Amino acid sequence: MNFKNKVAIVTGAGQGIGFEICRMLAQKGAKVILNDIDPDLASKAEGLINESNNGRCRAMAGDSSELVFINKMVDEAISQYGQLDIVIANAGITLYGDFFTYTKEAFSKVMDVNLGGSFFLAQAAAKQMKQQGKGGSILFMSSVVGHQALKSLAAYAMTKAALEMLAKNLVIELSPYKINVNTVAPGATLTERTTEELDYERVWSDITPMGRPAYVTDIANTALFLISDQARHITGQSLIVDGGWTSLSALPDGLK
Ligand SMILES: NC(=O)c1ccc[n+]([C@@H]2O[C@H](COP(=O)([O-])OP(=O)(O)OC[C@H]3O[C@@H](n4cnc5c(N)ncnc54)[C@H](O)[C@@H]3O)[C@@H](O)[C@H]2O)c1
Repeated sequence: MNFKNKVAIVTGAGQGIGFEICRMLAQKGAKVILNDIDPDLASKAEGLINESNNGRCRAMAGDSSELVFINKMVDEAISQYGQLDIVIANAGITLYGDFFTYTKEAFSKVMDVNLGGSFFLAQAAAKQMKQQGKGGSILFMSSVVGHQALKSLAAYAMTKAALEMLAKNLVIELSPYKINVNTVAPGATLTERTTEELDYERVWSDITPMGRPAYVTDIANTALFLISDQARHITGQSLIVDGGWTSLSALPDGLK
């Protein structure tokens, strides 16, 4: 896959999955706007990527759920690089909480970042891509919990299922402009955040058919495929990357 002459925006990319996507994109020739809400993480990530990629990565710190900032990212792509070909709405927050006591504040925050930020980034990017007239690719970051229930994640899971439906709906609006829209749904993935959880790697290795959680490279490789020229005819789809976890059903002890 070659991304020479492509310009991409990736949100929530100061670390974890988004960072790896930016690193691989820059390595394969793309010019990348790397966003994170944390300015230190954003600038550190930019430095790391540019060490070996000729300054092709540009950090933009800010909140990817804010409309003004979303438009600023698109404007920056145009003023710096003259075009926008790819957007990956990767930023997402996981606010666990018991359903009976889940607050309106937590609910609204999860909706704003995971869903609102993705929806309006897609809208701003699609307007620009339509005007350019050369097509484009939009990718949303879903999750296996958009497919299967996990305790204390109702609000988060709703946003991920909704992103997959959003991708399908946008097939109607964006196919005439040759813009494809897909989602990646990662299972448990080793990132800076998840490895802070106690025993994360062992616990998920035990229940994943492939015997380990995903690495960020597993998810980034899938993302790059879906935004590549090789996937131009794939749209409205979600690709689950979970080592087989969602293929399993709960089993009674005797049948395990
Ligand atoms: N790690 C996993 O196991 C896993 C599994 C399934 C889905 N996902 C999804 O993949 C995506 C990336 O996950 P991750 O674990 O790599 O991320 P993460 O939790 O490590 O966060 C990545 C970055 O996003 C930034 N961020 C948070 N809110 C932001 C905002 N409003 N604007 C801009 N940046 C913001 C954070 O500062 C952080 O550096 C998320 O959408 C997540 O829901 C992750």
